[in-house]
Amino acid sequence: MHIETLKAKYHELFPSSAPPICAAAPGRVNLLGEHTDYNDGFVFPMAIDPHILYVGGGNGTSRVRLYSLDFSQLDEFELGHITFSHDHSWANYIRGVCSQILEAGHTLQGMDVVLQGNIPQGGGLSSSAALEVGAALLINELNGLGIDRVELVKLSQRAENEFVGVNCGIMDQFASMMGRKDQALFLDCRSLEYELVPTGFEEMGLSAVVINSGVKRGLVDSEYNKRRSQCEQAVELLRNDLPGIKALRDVSTEHLDLINALPGDLAKRARHVVTENQRVLDGIAALKRGDLEVFGQLLNASHDSLKDDYEVSCAELDLLVEICRKVPGTMGSRMTGAGFGGCTVTIVAQSQVEELKERVLKEYPAKTGITPQIFVFTASEGARIIQ
Ligand code: GLA
Repeated sequence: MHIETLKAKYHELFPSSAPPICAAAPGRVNLLGEHTDYNDGFVFPMAIDPHILYVGGGNGTSRVRLYSLDFSQLDEFELGHITFSHDHSWANYIRGVCSQILEAGHTLQGMDVVLQGNIPQGGGLSSSAALEVGAALLINELNGLGIDRVELVKLSQRAENEFVGVNCGIMDQFASMMGRKDQALFLDCRSLEYELVPTGFEEMGLSAVVINSGVKRGLVDSEYNKRRSQCEQAVELLRNDLPGIKALRDVSTEHLDLINALPGDLAKRARHVVTENQRVLDGIAALKRGDLEVFGQLLNASHDSLKDDYEVSCAELDLLVEICRKVPGTMGSRMTGAGFGGCTVTIVAQSQVEELKERVLKEYPAKTGITPQIFVFTASEGARIIQ
């Protein structure tokens, strides 16, 4: 993937359009804080190197033309009439962003765009958030709108919620837009206050290894929405004893007795969210004092909680975690993202990465018949305009 290739395609397809500008937006991996964002809680993701690249320029009309190099597909629409496209599913993220920007009261001009990405799709590394955030940044720049980055994050999330119809939280778009090189992002999903925290992994001789299980379960969306509503139900019931709470964010580990008394699955769901929020706070404190042992234990505890209480893991993710935890030099390992497939993240000694790869490539395919993709990621720069 190279910017010059995109530019060449742009000039070939749209010879009379304005000289283009370029924007890039990365995927993310979440280190800690899973299924907490839509509970007004805490998350700790980092942006990664794989990204979506956009080259685009104004065309002086009211028409938008998008060309995806990955799908070799052209999508076209009128800004005055933006509908969901059933033939170009990738384009809906961009259509959604245009529609949200217009709905926010801004004026847009037509544009011609070429895009390409190298974030594994459907792997839980937020390729959709990157599509939205990159589009938002590009459109903001092309139209001189001057919308600030956090507002662009919110627009991007709304595009996904309202236009694409996926009820996600704000973590992925925030991480893609606001991530920084060598730093992970501690985000309070209620106030949107955030702090960039150096991961220090490399300095401590550690690597973040991300493994794609190669599994994608169709139930992600329905189960995701089910978890969201179970969390809301738990809040309703907990309000009897804790009047004034608005979200599970307002419930602390001191209230575990009340949580454990909730009916059925609600106790387990609430217990995960409340303990996970605490793990984010504890994990960041541990990272800041260089205590990677504790940080790793919290990753392990997070996985176990997602598996047993939140019930969003699956056999393949559990297997990957189990293999990785047995490698000497592994500090911690867990599933990352929404679950039901996707990726795991493991913090392991750099000197042991090869050993870990070997074991995973031997044991995982033997049991599942799937060859997993293995990546070593460092925290990378968030979305940017490239001059
Ligand atoms: C998906 C959603 C995020 C978040 C995670 C789970 O990635 O897009 O908003 O809820 O799942 O932590």
